[in-house]
Amino acid sequence: MNKVLVSLLLTLGITGMAHAAGDAEAGQNKVAVCSACHGMDGNSPAPNFPKLAGQGERYLLKQLQDIKAGSTPGAQPGVGRTVLEMTGMLDPMSDQDLADIAAFYASQAATTGFADPELVAHGEQLFRGGNLELGMPACIGCHAPDGAGNTLAAYPRLAGQHAAYTAKQLTDFREGDRYNDGEAMIMRTIAAKLSNRDIEALSSYIQGLH
Ligand code: HEC
Ligand code: HEC
Repeated sequence: MNKVLVSLLLTLGITGMAHAAGDAEAGQNKVAVCSACHGMDGNSPAPNFPKLAGQGERYLLKQLQDIKAGSTPGAQPGVGRTVLEMTGMLDPMSDQDLADIAAFYASQAATTGFADPELVAHGEQLFRGGNLELGMPACIGCHAPDGAGNTLAAYPRLAGQHAAYTAKQLTDFREGDRYNDGEAMIMRTIAAKLSNRDIEALSSYIQGLH
């Protein structure tokens, strides 16, 4: 009985792993439709479309699953993550397709940008030191001092990301328009403590981070 159970668990475990492992080469053949907005290699040319190149694989896969759930026509608000520009686009894709796509973008090299010299000091202070008065933790605790994120924990890479995109995410977390940061509401709680000026400075600092 125990042996059967153990082998069953092993089989399930192994199948689960094989299923979740993404193949970057296969992924490259599945992103033609994405490149118009996100760039051929995931370095998007437009500031409102996020760069995906070099982003952590686990984070990417989670976002793809969340966007698929939240961007299907008729999706309930509060489910997953809604990206209007991607409505219905991931519906025909299997879990394996999403894993392959995540592996592909994770394998690409990210480009960097520039920070506004006038905003750098305030951005850096918040990024590295948080806001003690408001009890806001420093961003580096999860996103790393160089903004590279934490691949295994699925804390996203931020370094070099377009400032316009980052500012929209922080604002969306603050206003509750992006709600896929889990039950702990990590980013919604943090963003609630950011002013518009903080968001502008952080986003600019992050764009120049490498
Ligand atoms: C018409 C433009 C457009 C197309 C085509 C498009 N996307 Fe997006 N994508 C966006 C926008 C805009 C966002 C950010 C939305 C927001 O502001 O939250 C986004 C967000 C994402 C994110 C989340 C990034 C992050 O850092 O959290 C991923 C992953 C993603 N797209 C993957 C894809 C894939 C894979 C495809 C192709 C199957 C695709 N996108 C096609 C516009 C597009
Ligand atoms: C306790 C850990 C933690 C801290 C501290 C933290 N973050 Fe995050 N952050 C996360 C997690 C986890 C996510 C991904 C949420 C999800 O799954 O959608 C995230 C997502 C983000 C995103 C969205 C990235 C994208 O590509 O869409 C931005 C931007 C961001 N964080 C900025 C910040 C900034 C700026 C700070 C400091 C003011 C900060 N974070 C502090 C854990 C953290």
